[in-house]
Amino acid sequence: MSAEAAGDYDVVILGGGSGGYACALRSAQLGLTVALVEKAKLGGTCLHQGCIPTKALLHAAEVADVARDGSQFGVKTAFESVDMAAVHAYKDRVVGRLFKGLQGLVKGARIDYVEGAGALDGPKTVVVGDRRLTGKHVVLATGSYAKSLPGLEIGGRIMTSDEALSIDHVPARVVVLGGGVIGVEFASVFTSFGSEVTIVEALPRLVPAEDEAISKQLERAFRKRKIAIKTGARFAGAAQSGDVVTVSLESGETIEADLLLVAVGRGPVTEGLGYEAAGITVDRGFVPTDERLRTNVPGVYAVGDIVPGLQLAHRGFAQGIFVAEEIKGLSPGAIDEAGIPRVTYCDPEVASVGLTEAEAREAHGDVLTQEYNLGGNGKSQILGTQGFIKLVRRKDGPVVGIHMIGARIGEQIGEAQLIVNWEAHPEDVASLVHAHPTQNEALGEAHLALAGKPLHAHA
Ligand code: NAI
Repeated sequence: MSAEAAGDYDVVILGGGSGGYACALRSAQLGLTVALVEKAKLGGTCLHQGCIPTKALLHAAEVADVARDGSQFGVKTAFESVDMAAVHAYKDRVVGRLFKGLQGLVKGARIDYVEGAGALDGPKTVVVGDRRLTGKHVVLATGSYAKSLPGLEIGGRIMTSDEALSIDHVPARVVVLGGGVIGVEFASVFTSFGSEVTIVEALPRLVPAEDEAISKQLERAFRKRKIAIKTGARFAGAAQSGDVVTVSLESGETIEADLLLVAVGRGPVTEGLGYEAAGITVDRGFVPTDERLRTNVPGVYAVGDIVPGLQLAHRGFAQGIFVAEEIKGLSPGAIDEAGIPRVTYCDPEVASVGLTEAEAREAHGDVLTQEYNLGGNGKSQILGTQGFIKLVRRKDGPVVGIHMIGARIGEQIGEAQLIVNWEAHPEDVASLVHAHPTQNEALGEAHLALAGKPLHAHA
């Protein structure tokens, strides 16, 4: 009987989402024997309930806006209605193709894919049904779930992004609880589809993790889109009766809606999986690791949304690859969390990498900033979008933060992350030629301005 048939592997991975499957694929490439355990669908939240289906909805939303606004560009179009069944069919086609491709990748690699709910039995063994999979190394990659608030039960007209993803109609009035990433993306979709949307956010601004200037511009743009924004608003409760959900705020105000979307963060999936019994430290549900993604138990690693930090698929991929290489003994460089790019796909899009101005001041003291208005950018004017690119640099030092807002601006994150992660100075970027007319050019012009030689910008 081979070691694998006996259930002994170099690596056993619990969870087949972005972090888990990336770790499995890289481990197999490196010649390690791998078991990958998944209870639902390979690809996890990102592919089935998160990044991919929501971005498909956002693309459909953009198409609705284009239809509505055709006359701005001299083209006679009219927005008629949204056929939600057809939107879901499109979204499901996209997800289905990627799912099939991913299944093929895993099948083609030497990975023992085990379907079923696994749990730890001691630090080195994952039990799935009647199978016991023992690994020299175990990687925990069980992901996250959509949270609610105490006393706020999900059901009926009160949904999280999980249920809202397959809603079969366009609700007339939507309250979005939480103005973070999921909140603003869904607010954007529903508005484009024709709903009347109100966002309720407890903190003083939308997307509170972003640079303050970005929040201000997003609020301005959303107000222009007739999205009602209530910031600094504490949620008190919600009651459903008939076909209405009534949302109450601590201020005493009530808002009636057809749908309440709860987007108050995602919690780690770590309960009932035997982690603590196996001696693994769990802190408020998360699994803390060192920068090499080791838990407190030797040979046990954690990746993805259960590790405190940014809950992003691309962070999970990077961590999964890192752990495979670490197990193989390749000593990869640690992942710099501050260098991980972030994109929010509402309209206008928000994209950032590195430190906000406030974080940079705290970390480095003296910093300089530059805002380049997209009003001076030809392609942005052609698209009819407003926004800006804000740079933050250390005085006489490299660019440590880039913050962007505007239609399609997320696509510019590629160069932005190279600038921040390669610690470029504005002068280095200013000397590179950016293609005209592109939105990418705005990134070049922002650096020209910060280097003291603005072209299409006021000094
Ligand atoms: P989030 O942490 O981004 O935002 C939650 C918001 O809810 C916060 O602004 C918070 O202040 C607010 N909130 C919490 N309790 C509240 C209350 N009682 N009343 C009013 N507001 C309240 O979490 P979100 O948006 O649920 O997203 C979860 C994770 O998924 C995030 O880490 C996000 O980065 C990730 N994600 C990433 C996407 C992307 O990269 N484009 C897309 C969607 C999600």
